[in-house]
Amino acid sequence: MKKNIVVLAGDGIGPEITGAAVEVLRRVAEKYGHEFAFDYKDMGGCAIDRFGVPLPGETVDACKKADGVLLGAVGGPKWDAQPADNRPEKGLLGIRSALGLYANLRPAVIYPELADASPLKPSVLERGVDVMVVRELIGGIYFGPRAVSEDGQSAYDTEVYSVGEVRRIAKVAFDLAMTRRKKVTSVDKANVLLSSRLWRRTVTEVARDYPEVELNHIYVDNAAMQLVRDPSQFDVLLCPNMFGDILSDEASQITGSIGMLPSSSLGTCKAGLFEPIHGSAPDIAGQDIANPIATVLAAAMMLDNMELHDEARAVEKAVGGVIAAGYRTPDMGAGRRVGCREMGRLIADAI
Ligand code: IPM
Ligand code: MG
Repeated sequence: MKKNIVVLAGDGIGPEITGAAVEVLRRVAEKYGHEFAFDYKDMGGCAIDRFGVPLPGETVDACKKADGVLLGAVGGPKWDAQPADNRPEKGLLGIRSALGLYANLRPAVIYPELADASPLKPSVLERGVDVMVVRELIGGIYFGPRAVSEDGQSAYDTEVYSVGEVRRIAKVAFDLAMTRRKKVTSVDKANVLLSSRLWRRTVTEVARDYPEVELNHIYVDNAAMQLVRDPSQFDVLLCPNMFGDILSDEASQITGSIGMLPSSSLGTCKAGLFEPIHGSAPDIAGQDIANPIATVLAAAMMLDNMELHDEARAVEKAVGGVIAAGYRTPDMGAGRRVGCREMGRLIADAI
């Protein structure tokens, strides 16, 4: 099969980790007889350097036509002085919005071999961690009306959700729950926010179409606490944009290393966007010590989205094998120490 993949390597460790993932994808293509074309485009700080803006039009056009978009990470101190509406992160928010990617899926699973690296006690981890954070990605306070007053003495951002926006993301959560443990926990702050009351009401309505799925509502502050007290109680965690941003970082750390977790963003465009959960880690960029596994697993999610399921499972299996053989980048704790490039090569060789 011929597939056109846009690679947005981005900033910091982005080029290194996407480099490793592309090597793995090339091996998949070879082994399974596919033709993957990789089209590299700029987004984030690198795009500001080249074009003056974080999201050039040609990048958006290429992504819209692609079969999948693989993203590294964006941002870094180099662009701290940029005005708020021209920061690297604006590129990321812009591409999510331009592609209509309203559903962000962030699985947090624990690899037993890496349990040592988790900050939670073994007695808590024993109950298992397999949480799928479903985060609404192109609405809420990230995209609501905002302004700074003329004198610079006040500023506001607005949390806005429509029934339609909540409905479509809730459906994604319930559909996923049907393929998992049939439990949705919806996160809100309905004791304070009107937008959360609408969220809760709408999710409850959608739940009626899924009688087999158990639905619970939880306030976001309680969710943050419950996630570290007993993560095994969660299956699908359905969140508005900002609560999902915060809780997915928390969920990822429970698993030991944020360097392991991929995410996919899906929506109205054929191409989804696939990226690691972690950021651009400018402090370790260019040193060949970053962990490429999250990006490699993101590539596996992209293969799934292209209906290449055997290929996706082969990538996951290769990652599992390399971890079981004891290979570790520095963030993964003690083991056979390898760098980013070597980790990529080991996984590719295991395909
Ligand atoms: C994430 C990141 C982004 C977000 C930033 C970089 C804009 O934290 O993908 O979780 O807040 O969505
Ligand atoms: Mg985040």
